[in-house]
Amino acid sequence: MINDLRGLLEALDRKGRLRVVNNADWDLEIGTINELMAEKQGPGLIFDNIKGYPAGFRVATNLLHHEVGQRIAFGFPDDLSRLECVADWKKKWNGFKPVPPVEVQNGPVKENVLTGNDIDIFKIPTPKWHTLDGGRYIGTGVITITRDPDEGWVNFGTYRVMIQDKTTLAFYASPGKHATIMREKYWAMGKPCPVAMCFGQDPLLFALSTMPLPWGISEYDMAGYIKGQGVEVVIDDVTGLPIPATAEIVACGFSPPPEEDSRPEGPFGEWQGYYASGTRNEPVVQIKKLYHRNDPILFGQPPVKPPVNTWFPIPIHSATFLWNELEKAGMMDIRGVYVHGPGDRIIAVVSLKQRYLGHAKQVATLAGAFLQGGACTGRYIITVDEDIDPSNLDEVLWAVTTRCDPEAYIDIVPGFLTSPLDPMINPDKRARKDYTTAKVFINACRPYHWKDKFPPVNTAGPELRRKTLEKWSDLFANV
Ligand SMILES: Cc1cc2nc3c(=O)[nH]c(=O)nc-3n(C[C@H](O)[C@H](O)[C@H](O)COP(=O)(O)O)c2cc1C
Repeated sequence: MINDLRGLLEALDRKGRLRVVNNADWDLEIGTINELMAEKQGPGLIFDNIKGYPAGFRVATNLLHHEVGQRIAFGFPDDLSRLECVADWKKKWNGFKPVPPVEVQNGPVKENVLTGNDIDIFKIPTPKWHTLDGGRYIGTGVITITRDPDEGWVNFGTYRVMIQDKTTLAFYASPGKHATIMREKYWAMGKPCPVAMCFGQDPLLFALSTMPLPWGISEYDMAGYIKGQGVEVVIDDVTGLPIPATAEIVACGFSPPPEEDSRPEGPFGEWQGYYASGTRNEPVVQIKKLYHRNDPILFGQPPVKPPVNTWFPIPIHSATFLWNELEKAGMMDIRGVYVHGPGDRIIAVVSLKQRYLGHAKQVATLAGAFLQGGACTGRYIITVDEDIDPSNLDEVLWAVTTRCDPEAYIDIVPGFLTSPLDPMINPDKRARKDYTTAKVFINACRPYHWKDKFPPVNTAGPELRRKTLEKWSDLFANV
């Protein structure tokens, strides 16, 4: 498997999916090129000779907005369907046995180590991505590493990071995120929280950083398990935190209690396609040591307005967890789970074989409760029969429009947690921090009481289709 960002770039290049762009400006030009290319589902981009910066100090973007990059990063073969990728990831996940990181003395990340007055984060050609962004966001494809002060385990999570000045970064981690909980524990003890932020790394580490692993499970241990060998780390002597030995750029330092230092953060072009959370004061990290490789590459994964996906095109970050939670809750005969909409987080579809009266409703209700990990914005839950592929939104809509009488089979339930990034939080609710939303449950399964009398589907049966395709194979060869 790939062990660093450069490995992903090489693999994309081999597939003809990488372009070098010279002489772009960090001020909105890189961001806009990235946006246009992502919308066109075009290749990954590596920006070099950025205006005002020396050659070699690069920015890589649009690597994971497209399925090709995700398949390389996760090792999914091209012939695995999207739903099969979700099922495969779910299986891996369930066999988890921790494989801890391996400490090494040296690694490419230590090629340049800056301290004291030599630290200047503006050395890195950080783009201003979107027109109304409040500043330059170095952390979009970031992993932020923290250690729990009580239990000692190491977490990483992706939380956006805005440059404040040459040694200060503000970071936005929502309530309940693991880094939020950990930093609050340090502050409660009157201590600053040690933090390491990597701005370019092995894509698998980035992917895990964006996923809601349970409290207490280190993303390092999960990465080691998936790779079949421990991730190589060097220990930062200032914070004591393990940092990936092959990372491109790592800023290590401390986050003081917010009453000591916090700075305006935002607005930022967010993943739902708006600047919804505006500007607020957020905690900062004061950088004490800056590591970078020779000719470092900043990895950018800035949000782009949907339907471009800021998370992953194949929703292993949301569907896998939902599917697992439903099965853990004892739900039987779940045939597939998929999540669509912005970020692949908003519309969950569960395909099931109805076994008993109320089965679909029970599954839907649980799915509504569980569809929250990472960003609590899941608003629609659709249940469909087992003949519907939940990853195919056209098929799902066929079921919704032909198997669901809205009067009887749609429920709207208010009061679920959403997120400050939800654009539908009106100003009054936002002022009182009421981040709640209703959820819509659409039962598009054939009505249970008369499902056996439901009109049959008008396609040829599987056997007839197989035989016909076999006999007329020439006709269908290149269709
Ligand atoms: C590109 C990207 C950017 C993200 N930015 C943020 C962010 O700014 N703040 C946040 O709280 N979560 C953000 N997330 C979601 C978290 O990374 C995700 O919830 C993750 O599970 C957090 O890690 P944790 O569970 O260890 O807290 C982002 C996800 C992605 C894919």
